[in-house]
Amino acid sequence: MSAAIIDGKRIAAGIKEELKALISAVPQEERPGLAVVLAGDDPASAVYVGQKEKSCNEIGIHSFMHRLPGTAAQGDIIELVEKLNGDPKVHGILVQLPLPNGLDSDQVIATIRPDKDVDGFHAVNAGKLWTGGDAIVPCTPMGIMALLDSTGVDLKGMDAVVIGRSNIVGKPISALLLSRHCTVTICHSRTRNLPSVVRRADVVVAAIGKPNFVTGDMIKPGAIVIDVGINRVGGKLAGDVEFASASEKASWITPVPGGVGPMTIVMLMKNTLQLAGVLK
Ligand code: GUN
Repeated sequence: MSAAIIDGKRIAAGIKEELKALISAVPQEERPGLAVVLAGDDPASAVYVGQKEKSCNEIGIHSFMHRLPGTAAQGDIIELVEKLNGDPKVHGILVQLPLPNGLDSDQVIATIRPDKDVDGFHAVNAGKLWTGGDAIVPCTPMGIMALLDSTGVDLKGMDAVVIGRSNIVGKPISALLLSRHCTVTICHSRTRNLPSVVRRADVVVAAIGKPNFVTGDMIKPGAIVIDVGINRVGGKLAGDVEFASASEKASWITPVPGGVGPMTIVMLMKNTLQLAGVLK
């Protein structure tokens, strides 16, 4: 079998056009505002933040960039977040992670007002996600669900295996798959015999940050494979899934680049519109 490609770039472009049309109906002074805080000079973070800023400009969201030096103190970041919490022009606040060593990201996230928490990382939103409430959902998992929905496959009753247990991807995507009635297994670095667990999966979500970790021999024939990895290997991007061997077994697969990545950014835009009340 040769898998069909889930074209995240195309799907994201379509959603982006819909959001752009929605914003165009909003007067300039009432348009949504997204504040992005970047501390330090991590090159990957600088690229992601640049992409977010560009997307905001393209669809008509006001973007407020706050670049702090890597030497910024915890108190400086907390003070900035508190200021953004009180700024009526700012509807969403994103603090790019990871923060430089020595800074406490949990405390920073806890300072963001839950109704401006565009990443859905605050405990209030994470709690609502798990209890079935009206949560702001983290962007990457929301993008993954849109990619799964694009296949038209009914997820109900499927075995889903999530590899990785981060607060950004692994845990929230597990909650979303559970809400769609999948039987969800979360694997991580201490999981015993991980390949045999992954082999049971109808849906595999790989979010571990290890290039080409999931190989074709771990994929059940016909499975849907979602690759969240963005790893730089010798100047090139590699996913967490070895694409060539996995696509021989899967029914659907996301490429890297052009799969999950573009969806994350467009879902950030969507969450910003939701927080600004432009989207219900
Ligand atoms: N670092 C990696 N992914 C993300 C994300 O989705 N949001 C933030 N704030 N930081 C990240």
